[in-house]
Amino acid sequence: MTIQQHEELLKKVKDLQEENIRLKKRKKYGLVWEDKPEIFDEQSKNALPVLIEKDGRFNDTISDPDGDFNILIEGDNYHSLSVLKYTHRNSVDLIYIDPPYNTGNNSWRYNNNYVEKDDAFRHSKWISFINKRLRIAKDLLKEEGVMVFTIDDYEIATVTLLLNEIFGEENWLNTVVVENNPRGRTSNAFFATSHEYYLFYGKNYKKSNIENLPLTREQKKAFNLKDEISEYRLLPLRKSGADSDRKDRPKQFYPIFVNEKTLEISLKSKKGYKEILPIDGTGRERAWKIGKDNCEKYILSGDVVAKVKRDGSITLSQKDRIKSGRKAKTIWVDSKFDASAHGSILINKILGQRKTFDYPKSIWAVIQTLQTTIASKKDALVLDFFAGSGTTGHAVLELNKEDDGNRKFILCTNNENKICEEVTYERIKRVSQGYKNKKGEDVEGLGGNLKYLKTDFIKIDNSIDDLKEKIVEASTQILCLKESTFKEKDIQEKIKIFENNHQYTAILFDTFYLKEFTEVLNKLTDKKVAVYVFAYDKNFSKEEFHNLSQAVEYTVEPIPEKLLETYQEIFNF
Ligand SMILES: C[S@@+](CC[C@H](N)C(=O)[O-])C[C@H]1O[C@@H](n2cnc3c(N)ncnc32)[C@H](O)[C@@H]1O
Repeated sequence: MTIQQHEELLKKVKDLQEENIRLKKRKKYGLVWEDKPEIFDEQSKNALPVLIEKDGRFNDTISDPDGDFNILIEGDNYHSLSVLKYTHRNSVDLIYIDPPYNTGNNSWRYNNNYVEKDDAFRHSKWISFINKRLRIAKDLLKEEGVMVFTIDDYEIATVTLLLNEIFGEENWLNTVVVENNPRGRTSNAFFATSHEYYLFYGKNYKKSNIENLPLTREQKKAFNLKDEISEYRLLPLRKSGADSDRKDRPKQFYPIFVNEKTLEISLKSKKGYKEILPIDGTGRERAWKIGKDNCEKYILSGDVVAKVKRDGSITLSQKDRIKSGRKAKTIWVDSKFDASAHGSILINKILGQRKTFDYPKSIWAVIQTLQTTIASKKDALVLDFFAGSGTTGHAVLELNKEDDGNRKFILCTNNENKICEEVTYERIKRVSQGYKNKKGEDVEGLGGNLKYLKTDFIKIDNSIDDLKEKIVEASTQILCLKESTFKEKDIQEKIKIFENNHQYTAILFDTFYLKEFTEVLNKLTDKKVAVYVFAYDKNFSKEEFHNLSQAVEYTVEPIPEKLLETYQEIFNF
């Protein structure tokens, strides 16, 4: 072989090895689609999102100015999520979303056009749209956080694959079927659809917070007996049904002895005690439900009970004590989940108008979702970035009212058909502050503060330093959102101080005023202070301040470096 032939051969081997690596990396199973960019993907190379206050006509709803705020953000949720990625990374307990279902019936626009049933890229557009948003949303969840994604038959298959890809199949907690339309959609071919799906995913299934549902009145009724410990019901100690024979569980076949006069129970044979074995009425040898060790414990605690039947035979039962709740089932059927009665009609009642919003959820379906995910977390944060009429916010306020909780919500929605202004904002305002119903009766408010923000954009034109200056100038609401401090304490041209009942947020927009800023900081002596200082790089730290009070806890962050880093992860600018 010549040197040239040898080199050619080596090249072929190298090419084959590379091809082998490429093929191994190729997706073998899962969802494949053609990415369909959104118009603003191109625009965001030239502009970055920030938040501004909504104009004065939509006043904030405030019942406790020093308290924490619920948030409403108007704008495309891709931009709202981008800001939240900086302000709320790893901070959200529950994300509940109810996106457009892509039914092809003029209910969802992509790049300003309705996506029709016969659009060849219908599914690709929808998945491109959802994929981008979910990838940001996952970063907002706490480790124990849960995402609930509602969907119907049009996209259940695709979105399940997508969610498996983004969250990992192991983090699928379950899929719940909710009967949201008990009458059934009779216009459907073949079957009248009456349900939709709630897909539950954990960020990390080992830590996911899933809770039992409170017992219903019916369920409570079954616990019809009571002793000094609790309410209980009696269940047979002998097993029945599958795997209940002696041969299936030989260790659970043993004698229990019962005193025929006093009905005392023992595992040891004693004088005057009758031997009872788990043999059923047909003479079949079955097994007890529990092993000997547990049985001993239950006998001692009085939780195994003997009864004499009419025919003189003795049966054994075990006390099943009432629990505070039960695992949620995977099918939710109840008239309270009807989206018409407890969604559309409810909104009309609150807003005093007819036909205000087409696709709301039943508030009870959302409350039950909250109960399965954050019932015991009284200060949980809930995010809904397809908020529509604001059912999620309303449900959080109802749950807080019921158990005196302090859960907060962030709702994001666009303002299509003025929905954000006229439905979401108006509904939350009314249910927080109270309103008069159609009959003129007062409906009591559920409380809670609401801050109404809106996305805006900073143009990227000149130098990066110019962009940094502009973005910091426009960062006030982002920082207030990050720290949940919206009450103005001291507002000067280059210095701004906000507060809530447990902290201050202090922003310095120009280091030329560092001395004045330090003087202002030194007056803030009663609460911790989150300090933000404009800097062209990340190298501004606490050490730059002299004579800061030792008694107060300070955190210091230069801006906008971290915000820009976050944007660099998302946008191609
Ligand atoms: C099905 S509805 C949600 C209804 C809500 N669960 C309720 O109970 O009222 C979906 C909402 O998402 C909003 N939406 C759709 N695309 C959006 C986007 N890119 N950014 C923000 N909101 C969007 C629509 O305006 C619509 O109000």
